[in-house]
Amino acid sequence: MSAKLWDRRYAAVPGLYGEAPNDFLQAQARLLKPHSRVLCVGDGEGRNGVHLAELGHDVVALDVSEVALTHARELAERRGVHLETWHVDLAHYIELGDPPKPWDAVVCIFVHLPMPLRRAVARELTRQTAPGGRLLLEAYTPAQLALGTGGPKDPSLLVTRADVVDDWGDGWQLDVRLVERHVREGSGHTGLASVVQAIGLRLA
Ligand SMILES: C[S@@+](CC[C@H](N)C(=O)[O-])C[C@H]1O[C@@H](n2cnc3c(N)ncnc32)[C@H](O)[C@@H]1O
Repeated sequence: MSAKLWDRRYAAVPGLYGEAPNDFLQAQARLLKPHSRVLCVGDGEGRNGVHLAELGHDVVALDVSEVALTHARELAERRGVHLETWHVDLAHYIELGDPPKPWDAVVCIFVHLPMPLRRAVARELTRQTAPGGRLLLEAYTPAQLALGTGGPKDPSLLVTRADVVDDWGDGWQLDVRLVERHVREGSGHTGLASVVQAIGLRLA
């Protein structure tokens, strides 16, 4: 989906995925070392980035939608935390070279990219992450199509366990699970869902 379509979506339904953090992220955030420099990829309206900022992390919320990032900054302000926002398409981001500081954690929640961009993003973010850094990723699987409770309708954007291992297997110790769970995230994601969840530890 283009930036314009995402902008239109977020303008039409502010709080599309709610203001509460994603359940998987909330449960696993304890793995991040204190004051981590975190990149939240495709952070949308900032519910996850703001949660991590509230936990004391130094968070960059990256998204292709300026409308979403405006909402993210408003949410951060309401919650009294600082959130750095980067308005950039990941297709351009991966060409930009090293960030000012290596990432201590990369968070990727329901960001469904076409191949080969998805693979290229994983490889570049692996390169940019410090040894000992963390990866937290959740994405819808192809089984989600039959459940119809959110996520892309284009099967090529959905992610299998094997895809995650192929994308991130190099340079990370990975724990990747297939899970069926109830997702309640605004009107965008609601109901029984089929997801893949990954926890990574960046190897030296
Ligand atoms: C399903 S939403 C999830 C938003 C957020 N992670 C959350 O869980 O609330 C997917 C997000 O990925 C962003 N996105 C999609 N393609 C992107 C790209 N090529 N570069 C940067 N962001 C992108 C969209 O703008 C959207 O905010």
